[in-house]
Amino acid sequence: MCGIVGYLGDREVVPLLIDSLRRLEYRGYDSAGVVVRSNGELKTIKAEGKLDRLAAKLEGCGLVGSYGLGHTRWATHGVPGERNAHPLSDGRGRLALIHNGIIENFLELKTRLRADGWEFASDTDTEVIANLVSSYLDGNLFEAVRKAVADLEGMYAFAVISGESDEAEIVAVRNGPPLVLGLGEGENFLASDPSALLAHTRDVVFLENGDIARLSPKKVAVWSQGETRVERPVVRLNWDPIQAEKGGFKHFMLKEIHDQPQAIQDTFAGRVDFESGSVGFDTLELSSTEIQAVRRIHLLACGTSWHAALVGKFLIEELAGIPVEVDYGSEYRYRRPLVAEGDLAVGISQSGETADTVSAMETARDRGARLLSICNVVGSQTTRMSDGVIYTHAGPEIGVASTKAFTSQLIALYLLALYLRQQVGREMKAELLDDLARLPAAVGEVLTRLDHYDELARRYAEAQDFLYLGRGINYPIALEGALKLKEISYIHAEGYPAGEMKHGPIALIDRHLPVVAIATGRRVFEKMRGNMQEVRARDGIVIALTDRDPEELTSVADEVLQVPRVSELLQPVVNVVPLQLFAYFTAVRRGTDVDQPRNLAKSVTVE
Ligand code: F6R
Repeated sequence: MCGIVGYLGDREVVPLLIDSLRRLEYRGYDSAGVVVRSNGELKTIKAEGKLDRLAAKLEGCGLVGSYGLGHTRWATHGVPGERNAHPLSDGRGRLALIHNGIIENFLELKTRLRADGWEFASDTDTEVIANLVSSYLDGNLFEAVRKAVADLEGMYAFAVISGESDEAEIVAVRNGPPLVLGLGEGENFLASDPSALLAHTRDVVFLENGDIARLSPKKVAVWSQGETRVERPVVRLNWDPIQAEKGGFKHFMLKEIHDQPQAIQDTFAGRVDFESGSVGFDTLELSSTEIQAVRRIHLLACGTSWHAALVGKFLIEELAGIPVEVDYGSEYRYRRPLVAEGDLAVGISQSGETADTVSAMETARDRGARLLSICNVVGSQTTRMSDGVIYTHAGPEIGVASTKAFTSQLIALYLLALYLRQQVGREMKAELLDDLARLPAAVGEVLTRLDHYDELARRYAEAQDFLYLGRGINYPIALEGALKLKEISYIHAEGYPAGEMKHGPIALIDRHLPVVAIATGRRVFEKMRGNMQEVRARDGIVIALTDRDPEELTSVADEVLQVPRVSELLQPVVNVVPLQLFAYFTAVRRGTDVDQPRNLAKSVTVE
């Protein structure tokens, strides 16, 4: 996820672009850059790291121009650094382009363009768009973009300016990630989200998927699918700037919960070939021979990422038949783990900077394991120390309570399990991938029922304790549901494998204790129903989560929440979303600081 901005008008363009980018820095901060058209030429300045580095570099370099583009980057293709920072030019220096998203067929296009003599100076998919547009550019930038878009596959938004245009113009495209145009008097703007525009205008046009827009200082025009001229409605925004950064949501956590269908899709996009039924990674860096030699896998993580690891054990053992051990980073380093030749240690971390996970990975490496990192932050420590990396493409996660990073980790682990299955020669069944394709819509469906979860929170927000129960692959989801509730609402909550309840926690049950029971799928449904009965028999309150007809559970549950059904191995991805929402609404009702709960930090870099 990156932030993009553009401006045409009479104001000083560089300070305006920098100011707008500041509002978008939450979308990524690996590098930043601006390009302006100045005396008929395109001038680009970029810097690695946060925006302040770019601002410092721009100071005193006297860059002035009549219009331009700016970008703050969250790396997906290519390490963070100036060479991969945007704006990127085409190989012939005719245009400059900024981009947010992923071009899935970038390798194929790159090969084609190389064969036609185009050169590449970065590792990005963005440069492929720049060269592609340039290859079609013959005096009409809009036309060139329209032709290039027909060749592109993936989810992307981009904006481009040309050094050859006679008049000030920006051409912008939306196909997935958001893009909004800001309308002014003799000036116009564009940005990834309205937060970047509010200081300058409140009249905006939200582009739809497939739209191509042409902006000049006096006019914006939009074509749907690049073909039909359309009038998108002008919306007057009353948001304050902070609200805008959160995309209009009250908290980052709620926004990030809503980002999940997109984050899930971005994590599997480009890695799955639905036609041939195969999975591949561009940054795994472990050869097939090395993968085939893997005898045992150690999954190392902390907190929510550790819960993802527990689900990962089910996935890898079931799909690939390779034994998996799961460890807390903080424990692994202080025992004497047995690591044998051919073992693979996988560090799972949103931030890639968690000290305990980093140390556990070091321990595994010192004992002879190859290292793999599943991580959300490009270039972070776990990725630098690993032999291979699988990035989750969740975009920056600002809320301290992890949500979209968790579901993206589950997708990355599912892909890893399928990849290993392929490598060990097990049959790849078509339904294993088809189920994945259905997930974003299933998660989206849960998000249409916010009032359910808010109402549930209203009823139980005063409870002192909660118990969360699950079995099999949903037992880690019970742990995650409990963790979400306790960390943001400060209500004591415990997650348990449901079968263990009778060995102790059952003593806690009385009429004050709500028990959240995850009863989806076929394998353990009847067992879960039995556990719910046990709770009811002791006057406990049962809140059931099911993918079945709620009628099937009304005799054993006080509340039944229905979720869409997907395959058993992917059901945890859907099941966790209502639990995130319930925790969120409960915390809001209790008036806690949802995005920055007390005593916690987003990235725990101490032991
Ligand atoms: C809980 C949460 C934490 C993190 C943990 C590991 O919502 O976010 O439990 O999961 O601190 O962080 P990463 O994944 O960055 O290593």
